[in-house]
Amino acid sequence: MKKKITTSKNYFHDIILCDDILTALKEELNKSYYPKNVFYIVDSNVDKYWGFRLKSVLHDKSYRKYYFTIKATEKNKSQKAVLDICEKLMETGFGRDTVIVSIGGGVTGDIAGFAASVYMRGVKWINIPTTLLSMVDASLGGKTGVNFNNYKNILGTFKQPDCIITDQAFLSTLSMKEYRSGFGEILKYAFLINEEFLEVIQKNLGSLIAHRDNDISDLLEICIMFKASVVYSDEKESGIRKILNLGHTTAHALENVMDFKISHGEAVVSGLAVMLVLSLKMKFITESKFNSYFSLVKGYKLPAAIHKANTKAVVDAMYKDKKNRDGKINFVLMRSPGNLMVDVPVTEEAIKSAVSEALKLFKL
Ligand SMILES: NC(=O)c1ccc[n+]([C@@H]2O[C@H](COP(=O)([O-])OP(=O)(O)OC[C@H]3O[C@@H](n4cnc5c(N)ncnc54)[C@H](O)[C@@H]3O)[C@@H](O)[C@H]2O)c1
Repeated sequence: MKKKITTSKNYFHDIILCDDILTALKEELNKSYYPKNVFYIVDSNVDKYWGFRLKSVLHDKSYRKYYFTIKATEKNKSQKAVLDICEKLMETGFGRDTVIVSIGGGVTGDIAGFAASVYMRGVKWINIPTTLLSMVDASLGGKTGVNFNNYKNILGTFKQPDCIITDQAFLSTLSMKEYRSGFGEILKYAFLINEEFLEVIQKNLGSLIAHRDNDISDLLEICIMFKASVVYSDEKESGIRKILNLGHTTAHALENVMDFKISHGEAVVSGLAVMLVLSLKMKFITESKFNSYFSLVKGYKLPAAIHKANTKAVVDAMYKDKKNRDGKINFVLMRSPGNLMVDVPVTEEAIKSAVSEALKLFKL
């Protein structure tokens, strides 16, 4: 099965959802649009599980190719990683007529996309996401970047890939921790898309989170289409794209306070809980709706360490966030799934009580 995903908006590239990555990639590379010089940038763990099969595409003699592996860690998501790639591209004689094919999670995509956007003022780029988070989130939207001076994603560019090819088969080798983390973003989509999608997730949450080899292609397609339609109508995040930050103000603060010992997905789900408490307190949702939505968040089963997070430290970290420099914190809140409000100002007092209440509710 090979399916091209399209949204109602015009955007810059194809998104292909397939169940045979090798065939889909070969077909894409065979298009006359792409140069015959292919530089692969592959996550070292993906290489471990999939390298043997992936390299079979490389046997095709009609291409000149180089296979470069990188270690996907936040520490390695640095300008050095980008420079190492550029150095290898030069050393091996790859010029402007190159297509970079990145195969990995968000770390690999962010580094490879950056390299593809700056090397010789930009070369073609095919992105193949291999984690759940990168399939539904990081691969879409054209943000690339690396960490700098201990801050995340400080150096970066906007660069749209020429094509994104997604195959859920990669999830079968992903650790359960990473799979569950990606599912945190899917819970976010449940609140962003509509009540019907939320109900499907709510009904099946247990089995969806427990098995990483489920057929979730329909679910992937819905999330991908949604994110694509949002980001390509607001490429530089000046308006509607802000809804994608749902739950993320709290999530970033929690990650900092907990020294990144919780996964991003767990932090996002905690952020969704705080969003629900605030939406209730501001009377955007009724108590019975709150109870129903909160049970979805609880069903994700957060680790006990999160319940013990210090409320004051979390709120202080929110005020230090680079996105809240003017001393005010605006939230994305919800009237109903799919009906969101961005830039809602919330007082420090109200944030503190919402964080503390959400953490308490998890324990019940
Ligand atoms: N560009 C964007 O719009 C955007 C959006 C969200 C997140 N991000 C970035 O994405 C990064 C997180 O990405 P991620 O969650 O995909 O994690 P990741 O890229 O760090 O990968 C997580 C782990 O899974 C391994 N892995 C990847 N695919 C695998 C597979 N199929 N089988 C086995 N192991 C596999 C990796 O080697 C790594 O150890 C962060 O740096 C974040 O800043 C970017």
